[in-house]
Amino acid sequence: MSTVLQNDLYLRALNREELPRTPVWVMRQAGRYLPEYLRVRQQAGDFMTLCSTPELACEVTLQPVDRFNLDAAILFSDILTIPDAMGLGLHFEPGEGPRFSNPVRTPADVRNLPVPDPMDKLRYVMDAVSTIRRELNGRVPLIGFSGSPWTLATYMVEGGGSKDFSKVKGMLFSDPSTLHELLNRTTQSVIAYLNAQVSAGAQSLMIFDTWGGVLSPANYREFSLGYMQQIVDGLTREADGRKVPIVLFTKNGGQWLDVMADTGCDGLGVDWTTDLADARARTQDRVALQGNLDPSALYGSPERIRVEVKRVLDSFGTGPGHVFNLGHGIHQHVNPEHLGVMVEAVRELSARNGSTQESAPGLHG
Ligand code: CP3
Repeated sequence: MSTVLQNDLYLRALNREELPRTPVWVMRQAGRYLPEYLRVRQQAGDFMTLCSTPELACEVTLQPVDRFNLDAAILFSDILTIPDAMGLGLHFEPGEGPRFSNPVRTPADVRNLPVPDPMDKLRYVMDAVSTIRRELNGRVPLIGFSGSPWTLATYMVEGGGSKDFSKVKGMLFSDPSTLHELLNRTTQSVIAYLNAQVSAGAQSLMIFDTWGGVLSPANYREFSLGYMQQIVDGLTREADGRKVPIVLFTKNGGQWLDVMADTGCDGLGVDWTTDLADARARTQDRVALQGNLDPSALYGSPERIRVEVKRVLDSFGTGPGHVFNLGHGIHQHVNPEHLGVMVEAVRELSARNGSTQESAPGLHG
């Protein structure tokens, strides 16, 4: 799998190396705002068939990389593949988001949860990873991902998305040992799943803790961060002689960036509610930072988008360790051309004088 990476800016930014410009990719970069994605999803029939057909998952992974010349590709899949492989019965109701037919509600439900073998029920994800790596042919690095145990548990207990998280928080306060058992099994599943993605060709990993920010500080440490720490400790950190950087992202987790950095991860995703200057002060340049344009900024005019991009770059300031991204996933109704404006603005406004070299010589990825 050892092809030379033509553009390794993303990996080098996570390593906090000095670079000719700031690399950029976008959370949910493959998706419904792209007409070419909608065509392939229609061809697949539904979202889960798209995820589980490696050639189609590969095609939609490459669409935004081709269109916008992004500096990283992210595996096209979903965080809910793990609970699905545990037997929860994932389906997507049109316009309603994800639903589980068999949510986890009782101690017996938790005791019966298997830790899925990633090469069995999740084999389709590993096949997608190796197919994408082959098709990328070293253009840019491939990011693998999973949900955090806490975020997965919210969907598993609620049975889908939620506004108040009453069932999973009910479990947290009424039967914490059952929730811990659920989080333990999910953590073991995530570690095996992410390590299998690295074996299949993922060159960096990101853990999405979309709902950590709904917890109190003490409960965030106990029920979310502690399990992300176990994951960081359990992951393969090198492949093909190169570091596999790990990025943790807790949405609404700005006040916890320092303890997140203590896990030993390489980078932190930052949402738009924290200025990157404050995030840097909090983490003391111990980790790289990824973010953090408000996704709604892409509803603005091209001129306004450039102003907002500059604000993010200026807030990070000088020095290494920034990966430009949105602060959360791109919205469905954004005009794709506006994303193009954002990417161009990042390239132009972050260009540093001197080096124009986009790839370190002699490095293999
Ligand atoms: O970033 C990428 O381009 C990779 C693909 C990716 C998807 N989901 C594809 C997807 C990634 C990284 C995810 C992660 C994910 N999935 C998260 C964590 C990140 C975040 O956004 O906070 C969460 C919470 C989910 C769960 C999930 N999957 C929800 C809530 C939904 C429905 C929401 C919606 O936008 O309708 C999904 C479905 C989903 N996952 C879609 C895509 C492109 C839309 C499916 C479709 O085409 O209809």
